[in-house]
Amino acid sequence: MGRLDNKIAIITGGASGMGASMAQLFANEGATVIAADINEDNLAKISELENVEGMKLDVSSDENWAEVTKAIVEKYGRIDILINNAGISSHKLPEELTDADWALMHKINSFGPFLGIKHASKYMKEAGKGSIVNTSSYTALIGSGFNAYSASKGSLRALARAAAADLGKHNIRVNTVFPGVIETPMTAGLTQYKAAMDMLVAATPMGRLGQPQEVANAILFLASDEASYITGGELVIDGGYSAQ
Ligand SMILES: NC(=O)c1ccc[n+]([C@@H]2O[C@H](COP(=O)([O-])OP(=O)(O)OC[C@H]3O[C@@H](n4cnc5c(N)ncnc54)[C@H](O)[C@@H]3O)[C@@H](O)[C@H]2O)c1
Repeated sequence: MGRLDNKIAIITGGASGMGASMAQLFANEGATVIAADINEDNLAKISELENVEGMKLDVSSDENWAEVTKAIVEKYGRIDILINNAGISSHKLPEELTDADWALMHKINSFGPFLGIKHASKYMKEAGKGSIVNTSSYTALIGSGFNAYSASKGSLRALARAAAADLGKHNIRVNTVFPGVIETPMTAGLTQYKAAMDMLVAATPMGRLGQPQEVANAILFLASDEASYITGGELVIDGGYSAQ
């Protein structure tokens, strides 16, 4: 028996990195997974997995969310789980950041999850249940030099708590995870800054970076019925980095 048997799960950013790892894990645990992403090449690859369907979605488009959630409910009957995981990052210095940089970061990392909650919760309310998990970041919790990225992930944290308070009466749970530096395509570019990466690893109590599967395992628990009384929860997955 799988831990997500008969669940219909949408994972945004589901075609790469942590999202792809979740897609595989959730499908192995019995879910039907809709990997929703903007990257069509990676969507084609992830759709090769059994019980994973890739769907094109730009999380920052209200219209696109309306179409995709409607299509999922028409095809599969309901939406049990939403993982708001798609995101972009930037470590531009404040003097380099433009209005457009700031707006784009917030549009994808904060407004995108808001739209996901808005559209998925409409169907979850009808079904009388649902589970939503958001991927924020340790940079929402501690000063880390990521400026617009940290601010967008902090906004997501506050949004998630507001949604948990609002949706609890509908039996819809909303939780958030805060990964540290995880080895995915998003952070692959950082490895060129070897000295900085070495310092980061040395400053992490567990002495290493995280793996996508380690985040996927935690999200699986929060998404599943095993976490049936957890809402508004916040789980840090960073090898102890932000505990210091
Ligand atoms: N890797 C890390 O160290 C780390 C740490 C903390 C938080 N996070 C967060 O985890 C999440 C997953 O990141 P990852 O490391 O797996 O990165 P990734 O780049 O491998 O995956 C992100 C995915 O989001 C998709 N995406 C980007 N914009 C989109 C849009 N507008 N609509 C739909 N999909 C879009 C990309 O196409 C990609 O498939 C992100 O929200 C990221 O901010 C990552």
